[in-house]
Amino acid sequence: MPVDRRSRILVVDDEEYICRLVVESLGPDSHDIATFCDAAQAIEYLGSNPVDLVLTDLMLGSCSGLQVLETARQNHPDAIVILMTAHPSVETAIAALKRGVYDFLVKPFKLEVLNQTVERGLAHQKVARDNLSLKGQVEFLRVANAFFGSGMDLDRYLQMLLKSCNTELSAVGSAILELNPRSGNIVRKVVETREPENEAAVLDESRLDQFGGSRSASPVVTAEPVTIDGNRRYRIMVSQPILVRRRLTGVINVLIRSRGDTIPAGRMDALSLLAGSAASAIANQKLYEDLQQSYFQAIRALTNAIEARDHYTAGHTDRVTRLAEQMALRLGWTEKQIYDLRVGCALHDIGKIGVPDAILNKSGLLSESERKRMMKHPDLGLRIVRGIDLFRPSVPYILAHHERYDGHGYPRGLKGEGIPIEGRLLAVVDTFDAVMSDRPYRAGASLEHAVKELVENAGTQLDPKLVRTFLLALRSGAVDLRELYGRDEDLSCLDDVTVTEKAPA
Ligand SMILES: [Fe+2]
Repeated sequence: MPVDRRSRILVVDDEEYICRLVVESLGPDSHDIATFCDAAQAIEYLGSNPVDLVLTDLMLGSCSGLQVLETARQNHPDAIVILMTAHPSVETAIAALKRGVYDFLVKPFKLEVLNQTVERGLAHQKVARDNLSLKGQVEFLRVANAFFGSGMDLDRYLQMLLKSCNTELSAVGSAILELNPRSGNIVRKVVETREPENEAAVLDESRLDQFGGSRSASPVVTAEPVTIDGNRRYRIMVSQPILVRRRLTGVINVLIRSRGDTIPAGRMDALSLLAGSAASAIANQKLYEDLQQSYFQAIRALTNAIEARDHYTAGHTDRVTRLAEQMALRLGWTEKQIYDLRVGCALHDIGKIGVPDAILNKSGLLSESERKRMMKHPDLGLRIVRGIDLFRPSVPYILAHHERYDGHGYPRGLKGEGIPIEGRLLAVVDTFDAVMSDRPYRAGASLEHAVKELVENAGTQLDPKLVRTFLLALRSGAVDLRELYGRDEDLSCLDDVTVTEKAPA
């Protein structure tokens, strides 16, 4: 289907020979020309058909050419209207110009003048449409720039793009379907419609089949005639492929209701630009995710290095992370907070890299100096991650997991809610895991014992609210204790537990 077309011209004159003359002069092969001698019929035509330029007589029997002009302005705001009149007056000319008439042709006119006036009008219209299209493209670029480097969430950005797309293309709805280029599965759907009934159409997954793995960036446009409030309209669906490194990574479906069955080339250019922005944003996100994945693998390697040295903490990081995740879910933390929690938990003891093996693996009690050395591991950890942006959210986990609710912890001696929640949360699960896990010199304690330990320490070492949150998470069965500790535990010990909410002394 063509996306651009010949100009559509409407000629209205109650004298048929003038209509014929105009058609012959403009050339029926160069334009699509409709002619009417009856003003009422012309007005009806304007209500249902796309029109670029109107040439109308001013005096049309009982009707005025100004009525044709009004209808043209209402239905086709950017149409060029040229009045033909044998009796121009200054008053009529001023009134017509005020209403948006482009030019006058005074009868009898030379055909050469007619052709020049029409071509000038169409050229003027093209410039105006190109300007509008450029404005749209500038708007898209503005929206596109809003994403890169802003840290904006991809879903929110794509939503913004679709809003902009609906405005610039006068669409009633649009959607982006993102694909995994390898599997072809849909991995993301973002939709923006003015009316909910359009959602299904723009989310139609079968539109992806049209591309059949092709690497073409050409859009697929389909148009079908529909009747809306008695008027003939077209329901145009455009599917614009999104290509990342020449692979089909998604599609933008746009639904437009229009009087005509085609879309101006300028608007299609804008849509192509939009698809380019979406492709860059998706590719950018993928790179970011890959980078995060690499960082995470690096973190795992560091954690494994600590655990390899510290027999005490073998498997501890993994268990603590999973327990902490359950707490975070119960607290309604966001996906981003939970991601930061995973990294924070993985890194919380990273400072132990700077503690000598002899202290780390000492089976007996630590001497005062050894204890002081051990207590430096939060600060050592901070020094290791400082300056790495991606690890910044881990700092409260690293620095505050040995703070105590009563203010007697280390390294800062923070108290109550003055301790970052990340540290308070980690302290609860850290303590729980320390009691539950096996040691070289003893087997892990029972759940009942671990729960007792938490309750006893609530309000002194631990935040009582978070202890309660954790016990509720355990009671709900969300934590698979068999998987974590290799043994079945009786959850009934959690039934009658109460946690006293004493304020820190
Ligand atoms: Fe620690």
